[in-house]
Amino acid sequence: MTMNYRHLGRAGLKVSELSFGSWVTYGNQVDTRAARELMAAAFDAGVNFFDNAEIYAKGASEQIMGAVLKELAWPRIKYVVSTKFYWGMRTNPNDSNTLNRKYLLHAIDGSLKRLQLDYVDLVYCHRADPTTPIEETVWAMHDIISAGRALYWGTSEWSAEQIRAAWDIADRRNLRKPVVEQPQYNLFHRKRVEQEFKPLYADLGLGLTTWSPLASGLLTGKYRQGVPAGSRGALEGYGFLRDGLTDKAKNAIVGRLEGIARDLDCSLAQLALAWCLKNPNVSSVITGATRVEQVAENMKALAVAPKLTAEVMQRVDAAVGSSYD
Ligand SMILES: NC(=O)c1ccc[n+]([C@@H]2O[C@H](COP(=O)([O-])OP(=O)(O)OC[C@H]3O[C@@H](n4cnc5c(N)ncnc54)[C@H](OP(=O)(O)O)[C@@H]3O)[C@@H](O)[C@H]2O)c1
Repeated sequence: MTMNYRHLGRAGLKVSELSFGSWVTYGNQVDTRAARELMAAAFDAGVNFFDNAEIYAKGASEQIMGAVLKELAWPRIKYVVSTKFYWGMRTNPNDSNTLNRKYLLHAIDGSLKRLQLDYVDLVYCHRADPTTPIEETVWAMHDIISAGRALYWGTSEWSAEQIRAAWDIADRRNLRKPVVEQPQYNLFHRKRVEQEFKPLYADLGLGLTTWSPLASGLLTGKYRQGVPAGSRGALEGYGFLRDGLTDKAKNAIVGRLEGIARDLDCSLAQLALAWCLKNPNVSSVITGATRVEQVAENMKALAVAPKLTAEVMQRVDAAVGSSYD
């Protein structure tokens, strides 16, 4: 089982093809001690990219990751850390739902303090802000990088048109360009990555770090008989995920995928992760986990990916049909 390191699009930075993120888990399901075990297991399997965001558990996720990084004391050159900005931490006008210059320059200070780092490797605009000129945001990201507080910047859940607009401004003004987008990508959510963004890979050299490869756990098969206690679907405050997780039609498709996983001698989670890995435009598939056993199971998707021949991919497509957006 070998971890490969893929370029972040056309950028020089290399990220492990499977990475590890902290959404929902850190601060809600996982404390510092458990996070240390999870990150150490991921790192031992070759993961070099750890994804975070200011909004995750309202700063607690960054605090936990910062404490773990300090305890584990890996050489800084060996890992890549990200954060993301948009929603803000408070409700005042310049600290919520914005990508304005004041917020972004303030936000990076807070994140670095919580992460106990001098710089983050990647900083993402977590959503687009149609109320701030893209040019103002591009300048702010350029200035964050120029100040040495981040090395690269990117976007998350931006449209192809918005990404191209930011890239064109940076190109015209000789500013740092966005090098990566972070979209959702899994067997039930494919169109943006496979269709809308298609011209951007060759034109801009855009890299992708993709999220929710297991559709929050749906693609493990654990929701086929309802919501298991202790799972993400049972968490208070995440009711918005529950309808999708317990969707009958989707769970019937998961049942069909189970047969394919069985023939490949792997778990459903491994099949779903390996399917994401097969897309060459994906730089890194960001995984999530609440237990070390899940990390161990998920990392073995590396050995399953080569088994996904054209014929297997066709079987997967036939099982999912047109039930994806
Ligand atoms: N940019 C964005 O807007 C955005 C949005 C969402 C996520 N992200 C990033 O992407 C990362 C991954 O997203 P995600 O956490 O939604 O990924 P996911 O792989 O879709 O879901 C991960 C969750 O599924 C369950 N799970 C994982 N492996 C399992 C296994 N082998 N067997 C059974 N259950 C398993 C765990 O939850 P339980 O144990 O609780 O069931 C785990 O926390 C996040 O941490 C974050 O860094 C970014």
